[in-house]
Amino acid sequence: MRPLSSSLWVLALFASSVSARFSDFEAFKDKFNLQENLGTLSIYHQPYFTGLSTAFPESCEIRQVHILQRHGSRNPASDDGLSSAIKLVEMQDKLLNGSLPINYTIPNNPFRFVRSWVPVINIRNTDQLSSMGRVELFEMGREVFTRYRELFDADVYYINTAAQQRVKESAEWYSYGMFGEEMANKTKFTYLAEDESPGSNSLSNYNSCPVYAENNIDLKEVNEAGLAWRNVFLPSIVNRLNPYFSNYNLTNEDVTSFFYLCAYELTLKDESDFCSLFNPSDIMNFEYSYDVEYSLYGGPSSKWVNVLGGPYVQSLANSLRSVYNESDYQKVFLAFTHDGQIIPVETALGFFPDITPEHPLPVTHNPYSYSMKTSSFVPFAGNLITELFHCQDQKYYVRHLVNQQVFPLTDCGYGPSNSPDGMCELSAYLNSPVRYNSTHNGTDIFNDACKAKPVNVTINY
Ligand SMILES: *[C@@H]1O[C@H](CO)[C@@H](O)[C@H](O)[C@H]1NC(C)=O
Ligand SMILES: *[C@@H]1O[C@H](CO)[C@@H](O)[C@H](O)[C@H]1NC(C)=O
Ligand SMILES: *[C@@H]1O[C@H](CO)[C@@H](O)[C@H](O)[C@H]1NC(C)=O
Ligand SMILES: *[C@@H]1O[C@H](CO)[C@@H](O)[C@H](O)[C@H]1NC(C)=O
Ligand SMILES: *[C@@H]1O[C@H](CO)[C@@H](O)[C@H](O)[C@H]1NC(C)=O
Ligand SMILES: *[C@@H]1O[C@H](CO)[C@@H](O)[C@H](O)[C@H]1NC(C)=O
Ligand SMILES: *[C@@H]1O[C@H](CO)[C@@H](O)[C@H](O)[C@H]1NC(C)=O
Ligand SMILES: *[C@@H]1O[C@H](CO)[C@@H](O)[C@H](O)[C@H]1NC(C)=O
Repeated sequence: MRPLSSSLWVLALFASSVSARFSDFEAFKDKFNLQENLGTLSIYHQPYFTGLSTAFPESCEIRQVHILQRHGSRNPASDDGLSSAIKLVEMQDKLLNGSLPINYTIPNNPFRFVRSWVPVINIRNTDQLSSMGRVELFEMGREVFTRYRELFDADVYYINTAAQQRVKESAEWYSYGMFGEEMANKTKFTYLAEDESPGSNSLSNYNSCPVYAENNIDLKEVNEAGLAWRNVFLPSIVNRLNPYFSNYNLTNEDVTSFFYLCAYELTLKDESDFCSLFNPSDIMNFEYSYDVEYSLYGGPSSKWVNVLGGPYVQSLANSLRSVYNESDYQKVFLAFTHDGQIIPVETALGFFPDITPEHPLPVTHNPYSYSMKTSSFVPFAGNLITELFHCQDQKYYVRHLVNQQVFPLTDCGYGPSNSPDGMCELSAYLNSPVRYNSTHNGTDIFNDACKAKPVNVTINY
């Protein structure tokens, strides 16, 4: 079993203080960890930011916490193009039935493992959490409950979750991690359909925005960029692996399937011989295909990103503001969703200033140094945590954690330490131009641009 302790906050203290965001492949190579460089199929892990301490600042008390949590490790999905369960099961069949004819007489053929290989992807489990996904979420719930124990003084917690089965189940395991059997009495779940009906309350805004969803906005760009990038990085791998087959011409699609088999076998059985077909540079180019696609799909390269991320950010801002005026404000906010929701929210918060619709990620080469690595931000069980502190100077401060590491906010001043500590004074945070439109008007902008369904109840995040 993989060591879960790698996700513990306490280990953050020992995390490297070198930021991997500003180096090239040579520098990345040292940090290379197969399971942490698989884009959104990466194992849960802490990102390498600037290594700021995650401890609560000494002069401050925690007053509010907001969790936006991705579901855990899963089986292949049904609607995922080249990585769909159907495609991968087909590839498993082809390898086993010889329609992808491996030449076993070649000494040290790297595919020779296929002879005794037992495939693990099963069409029956399509879209479901894996057992590791259940453990990840249970463990995360326990860690969050332990860290924020003093905020957990309510009788009942309102848990909002996108209604897809694996997200609902993730929220349940997490709640068991927080409350054990008491979870039955301590939680009230709200399931938000993954269609247009929840409007701005949605936890999958790319679906609840009718103009965006019905016109397939961004989709063409995503597909074209993905294809263009695969045409850049795959041919040399195809040429390298092709000689190990007899009378067969390997395709880019075949090799793409091998990458996915590597990633999914890792999540389902913790190891995969397919991974040994690739070197670190191959894997990081595979990783980059996720970054190219997610940056365009409602991410920082999309003109729609502030529209899609806006409602969560405005709701978050309203909840943060509530501490100024209300004596019994809500302290704990829990929301469960998908990777495709978290990236737009983080973009609307100003996390990825180096990538814009005018300056998208290139599809001609992998630049290595750029902010929005899906591996770092939305691996399986990835999360965005917003902490609100009240400090000795009587001011409130905001801090974001990405997968339990402090995200180094730089746009709104310093915290009480008066040095770059990842904290921003609340009003400076809310009024910073990078997120002002979202914190003040995110919901109206969404409703207006999307022609979204009006909501009669507002869910708070
Ligand atoms: C092998 O499996 C593939 C994918 O399922 C299928 O299309 C093909 O017909 C099979 N070939 C043989 C020889 O069974
Ligand atoms: C839940 O609440 C009911 C009614 O108050 C109580 O009888 C039951 O023991 C509680 N269950 C748990 C697991 O706390
Ligand atoms: C398989 O590989 C062997 C050794 O390299 C080679 O002699 C043979 O021609 C190959 N067979 C086919 C069908 O390509
Ligand atoms: C593989 O591609 C080459 C070059 O296009 C072609 O000559 C050859 O017939 C193809 N082989 C098979 C088995 O399709
Ligand atoms: C809430 O508090 C803020 C900051 O102290 C203040 O500017 C605002 O007017 C208050 N709003 C209400 C509705 O009292
Ligand atoms: C905020 O909205 C205004 C008015 O629509 C617009 O001019 C401005 O560019 C927006 N700012 C950002 C950072 O998107
Ligand atoms: C908020 O956004 C709506 C819709 O785009 C726009 O009509 C309105 O002027 C904006 N309000 C402010 C205060 O910027
Ligand atoms: C909100 O509207 C929906 C349908 O439009 C309705 O089913 C629901 O009862 C309404 N909820 C409230 C609290 O009014």
